Amino acid sequence: MTNDSLQDAQAHSHQATEQQAAVTEHIPVLADETLLGLRLRSGDWAIDGTLGGGGHAARILRQSEPDGRLLGLDADPAAIERATHRFAAEIADGRMVVVHANFAEVETVAQQHGFAGVHAILLDLGVSSFQLAEAERGFSWQADGPLDMRMNPDQEISAWDIVNTWPERDLADLIYEYGEERHSRRIARAIVARRPIERTGQLAELVESAQGGRRGQRIHPATRTFQALRIGVNQELSKLEQVLPQCLRLLRPGGRLAVISFHSLEDRIVKRWMQQEAADFTPDPTHPMGGISKTPSVAIITRKPITAADAEIQHNPRSRSAKLRIAERIQ
Ligand SMILES: C[S@@+](CC[C@H](N)C(=O)[O-])C[C@H]1O[C@@H](n2cnc3c(N)ncnc32)[C@H](O)[C@@H]1O
Repeated sequence: MTNDSLQDAQAHSHQATEQQAAVTEHIPVLADETLLGLRLRSGDWAIDGTLGGGGHAARILRQSEPDGRLLGLDADPAAIERATHRFAAEIADGRMVVVHANFAEVETVAQQHGFAGVHAILLDLGVSSFQLAEAERGFSWQADGPLDMRMNPDQEISAWDIVNTWPERDLADLIYEYGEERHSRRIARAIVARRPIERTGQLAELVESAQGGRRGQRIHPATRTFQALRIGVNQELSKLEQVLPQCLRLLRPGGRLAVISFHSLEDRIVKRWMQQEAADFTPDPTHPMGGISKTPSVAIITRKPITAADAEIQHNPRSRSAKLRIAERIQ
């Protein structure tokens, strides 16, 4: 992507997201940049692994008019229901297929629906505004609700199980690793001492007091602990590791994968995977001079991740931490 086209995309971003907000209430992040980067043409086939409110999906469908096709997945049945409603016309005329599935199963789902060899795949990671806003889903420390955080409510393990049944040490490790929280031990100790904990509000308060209050922190003291629990409940990092090689196999040569991540743990996985696939040599860690030469399977389109322009951040604060990386399959 050239700087000019990127600036153009960012200039239009504000206007476009505003229009979509009225329809979906979830403002798609870096939408113009993503669409520009995916380089979709009329008639192209695409996969959106994270349908959410369907903001990006609507843009993909528009860009591939009149006969491009889109397969949309989401782990959350509520997102699927919303998308089925929003895209009823496209589904009816065969332009779109919507499937309730985790993107870790994308290859199987895509093959079932004849979507192998696609031109573009999008993963817009994390949670949607719908999920955050609905207190009953238990994702947010801002809205009091049950300790749930499951993207797919059919799944057995919820945040309640982790908070109330895990040994203190495992809980501390999870908060440290997935929340990058340096007070993890203190927080885990406070949680175990106050069990059972039923509500997100209760947990947020407890985490805050375990750290001695707010003390001028920019983010709420419970943010990192909530992030850790969400990642743990939904096994977000392992699902991401599983989906990336599947995306490569599903793309046709010249096809592009765009991934939008919202924290450094996700972004690191995407960055390293792209670098490894773009490399022409795989070192052998067991031999100081060992390794094998190989033909790279992707070209990295975004040397540095694309981030939101100030106008987008002002309009949609969720975009502040977004990082977009794009790779193209080359063989
Ligand atoms: C940030 S939102 C996507 C927003 C969407 N791009 C839009 O424009 O409205 C992320 C969505 O991905 C879903 N999701 C997260 N991880 C998933 C996974 N492993 N498999 C399938 N869906 C997932 C969430 O349920 C959520 O609806």
